[in-house]
Amino acid sequence: MRKIAVVTSKGGTGKTTTAINLSYGLAMFGQRVLLIDCDPQRNLAIIFDTYGSQTLPDLLLRGKVDILQVRKNLFFIDSGGRKLAETESLLAQRKGGELRLRQVLSTLKGSDWVICDCPPSTNLININVLTYADYAIIPVSMDFLGMVGVKKTMETIVEVDERLGHQLRILGILATFFDSRTKISYEVLQTLRQHFKEKVFNTVIRTNTSLKEAPGFHKVIFEYAPYSYGSQDYYLLTEEVFNYGWEEKGGD
Ligand SMILES: Nc1ncnc2c1ncn2[C@@H]1O[C@H](COP(=O)(O)OP(=O)(O)O)[C@@H](O)[C@H]1O
Ligand SMILES: [Mg+2]
Repeated sequence: MRKIAVVTSKGGTGKTTTAINLSYGLAMFGQRVLLIDCDPQRNLAIIFDTYGSQTLPDLLLRGKVDILQVRKNLFFIDSGGRKLAETESLLAQRKGGELRLRQVLSTLKGSDWVICDCPPSTNLININVLTYADYAIIPVSMDFLGMVGVKKTMETIVEVDERLGHQLRILGILATFFDSRTKISYEVLQTLRQHFKEKVFNTVIRTNTSLKEAPGFHKVIFEYAPYSYGSQDYYLLTEEVFNYGWEEKGGD
């Protein structure tokens, strides 16, 4: 089972868009995927138009949760919205509150992939995800603050390793909101490649209106606009993640 966190400390960089379309992409490849919404904004439930009655807070506090099937091969855990934010303070009072997700999901079976969509902060819920997942995908929008977000996220990952002894590997840094008409897109992408070398995915996600529209129709990009740039880019990302070389890199 491959456990991936889609994470960065900056909001609006395409985390949710990446989590949902990559999950669907892998499901299209015949893989069984569990997608966990870890953000109180509850965007994934809104997009799927499917709400759990037992949600992530129930999983974290009581070890019980609804795993909802939303598409063929694709399963989903609802974040529970505001309740999740409240859960954070309850978890903080518990010993080992940082490792709770890891503990409650240790017996999970039947999924080939678990993809966690993170909130844009360094809160306890995020720490739980970072200690559970083995790999991180870090989406970076093509602007200056996007770059700052990567740096902060890397620091958090190092901190989690030092403090909690869990090594989260970078699966890839993903350039998002790439706009070929703007100089800054090329500059930020070049800087990323210079700094992080092969850790930057070859796939670049272009700015694409269909990606913005799809959630309003409760669809992923492959359903809403299969011939759009968004669909092409997320298909390439899915292939790149799928063909990562998991065996050689000890990813299993
Ligand atoms: N490549 C893209 N092109 C155009 N709009 C996008 C793209 N990726 C995401 N969006 C839109 O931008 C907004 C923020 O994206 P989202 O994935 O929710 O970011 P995050 O989860 O990091 O906050 C959403 O409205 C989403 O539909
Ligand atoms: Mg999001």
